Amino acid sequence: MVGKKLEKLLNEQLEMEAYASSSYLAMASWCEVNGLDGSATFFYNQSDEERMHMLKLFRFINERGGHAITPSLKKPKTSFKNILELMETFLEHERSVTEAVNKLVYIAGQEKDYTSLNFLQWYISEQHEEETLARTLLDKIKLIGMQGSGLYLIDKEIGLKATPSVNNTTE
Ligand code: FEO
Repeated sequence: MVGKKLEKLLNEQLEMEAYASSSYLAMASWCEVNGLDGSATFFYNQSDEERMHMLKLFRFINERGGHAITPSLKKPKTSFKNILELMETFLEHERSVTEAVNKLVYIAGQEKDYTSLNFLQWYISEQHEEETLARTLLDKIKLIGMQGSGLYLIDKEIGLKATPSVNNTTE
């Protein structure tokens, strides 16, 4: 049985993941309408992944005797100055998710909730991967630059990092 304090935090985390999914969908759309097809594919896939992160939490809360709450979300940012600003927003969001996961791990440890601690390990690894990916892509944009064919190259690079869309949300 999950404790009340942790249940509340897990529901907040679920909301953050849902917001990430919605934000990355908005990023995919911005990329698509600006002719950045590789980046659009990347963010459509990221959005799917975040929904999967949200559902994993959703089901875990209920399995532990808590009550997963469907969040109502604020509208995400839908337009960006350029791909650099968009990628900075992506990295910033991933950093805040990592902080929230760390807080959850801390509280689960304090409450000696070892089942939750074990469950949260997956999120720790996932955040490490996603933050690294966001930082790598941001570095590439800075390195290549957005002038001339730079933008074309950047879009190609980002597209290469797109993972296949996640359809299995019940793992
Ligand atoms: Fe699931 Fe990237 O936060």
